[in-house]
Amino acid sequence: MINFIVEDRDGGQVPISIPEGITLNLMEALKASDYDIMATCGGMALCATCMVQVVEGAEQLPSPRDNELDMLDTMPFSDDKSRLSCQIEVNEQLEGCVFKIAG
Ligand code: FES
Repeated sequence: MINFIVEDRDGGQVPISIPEGITLNLMEALKASDYDIMATCGGMALCATCMVQVVEGAEQLPSPRDNELDMLDTMPFSDDKSRLSCQIEVNEQLEGCVFKIAG
């Protein structure tokens, strides 16, 4: 299992476990866990409605690609902890990470 923590908009933290070998991105995993993620563009890095803050573990994640950085640059409240959850594959690199759902 791949285990990480999700902090919702109210600050509550919930551990999430995803079986290894399932092809999901973080946005899909959050939606499957009933988090209110709009993901209007369906994971194309075009809407930023799937934005999260990486509270812990940013250093173990792959760096964002240019299309993700370009979209994050357009968001007034993004910072260096912001990521588009649709651009993060769920794999062992997420083990122990803490993600906060963006407001
Ligand atoms: S779902 Fe649109 S940017 Fe992630």
